[in-house]
Amino acid sequence: MHQFKVVVLGAGGVGKSALTVRFIQDKFLEHYDPTIEEAYRRPITVDGETSALEVLDTAGAEQFTSLNEVYIKAGKGFVLVFSLTQEASLKEVDHLRKQIYRIKGDTGGSIPIVVVGTKLDLVTEREVHQNTIQTLASRWGLPFYETSAKRNWHVSEVFENLVRQMRVR
Ligand code: GTP
Ligand code: MG
Repeated sequence: MHQFKVVVLGAGGVGKSALTVRFIQDKFLEHYDPTIEEAYRRPITVDGETSALEVLDTAGAEQFTSLNEVYIKAGKGFVLVFSLTQEASLKEVDHLRKQIYRIKGDTGGSIPIVVVGTKLDLVTEREVHQNTIQTLASRWGLPFYETSAKRNWHVSEVFENLVRQMRVR
């Protein structure tokens, strides 16, 4: 069986833990408790093939981002998370994307990455237009999902997409 290490990265409070815990345990983390580092494991079956996923949920808080280099070296696939309700969190995704290519060596778009906008359910608080993120994601050449951990919208699709990318790379 394939074993894949996935690292979840993004700014503080954007919903990395809520996304991860929804995927791993199918429950919603309502209470905000800033993460230091949390590792989870789960089997996942995609297109009839089961793989073992290790998902590392990281800290968005500035004082811990020095660890990102270590996580990026160890990871095979990356979930880059921003909040649809916070335009500034998109900048961090761009920064992380560049950091990944720098650390892993830009191997011609062969690093498995998925970009995720969270909190899709908070419609009235939305700051990032679909056009903005669609344009960026296609410029970056990366798949993109809008999700809600609260409502469980498109969460499993994120990890399934990443598994399909990791299998062939
Ligand atoms: P750090 O660990 O500090 O980096 O933050 P994080 O990115 O892990 O954020 P976390 O998942 O803890 O979520 C922060 C807050 O946003 C929590 O109160 C969550 O309940 C809330 N939240 C996360 N995802 C969603 C969502 O899809 N919808 C709504 N309505 N709230 C969400
Ligand atoms: Mg967290």
